[in-house]
Amino acid sequence: MNAVIYFSLSKDLNSKRIASTYDGDIFELVNNEKKRKGKGINMFVYGYKTMINKDVDFDVPDIDFDRYDNIVLVSPVWAGKVNLFMKKYLEKVPFKNKKAIIVGSCDGGYKNYFKSYEGLLDESNKVIEEVIYVKGEKK
Ligand SMILES: Cc1cc2nc3c(=O)[nH]c(=O)nc-3n(C[C@H](O)[C@H](O)[C@H](O)COP(=O)(O)O)c2cc1C
Repeated sequence: MNAVIYFSLSKDLNSKRIASTYDGDIFELVNNEKKRKGKGINMFVYGYKTMINKDVDFDVPDIDFDRYDNIVLVSPVWAGKVNLFMKKYLEKVPFKNKKAIIVGSCDGGYKNYFKSYEGLLDESNKVIEEVIYVKGEKK
């Protein structure tokens, strides 16, 4: 059984849509930060927060990990790397002994994305798949 954990920010909600294509239970990292319209301002603000590794305010879903074999992590690529909300989530909730599927949504720049999960997931987990979507299309 899959637990699908996602974060999505843009008005297109790409990661939300991608998350919904997986079977299993779906959990959102709900953003409690001030909402800003416009891609440019979000890129600026969250790009900066990503750079300085700033803490962000979101709801941590209550997941009973014993119920799941696979954990699917879906989020937008930010500054070429793991999304700041997903990073903070994985630091708060270091699940163990799972098969992980890492999924990214981006506009084309994702060179360091999968590598940036190294050290974030507990070593007892095994990454079984890495999937990238560019402009909504699976590569
Ligand atoms: C702060 C920030 C940084 C971003 N950095 C990148 C990036 O490095 N590479 C890229 O291809 N897209 C980048 N994007 C674009 C998003 O990753 C892309 O539009 C994604 O599909 C949005 O997913 P969402 O709809 O789930 O939020 C960035 C967007 C924001 C807000």
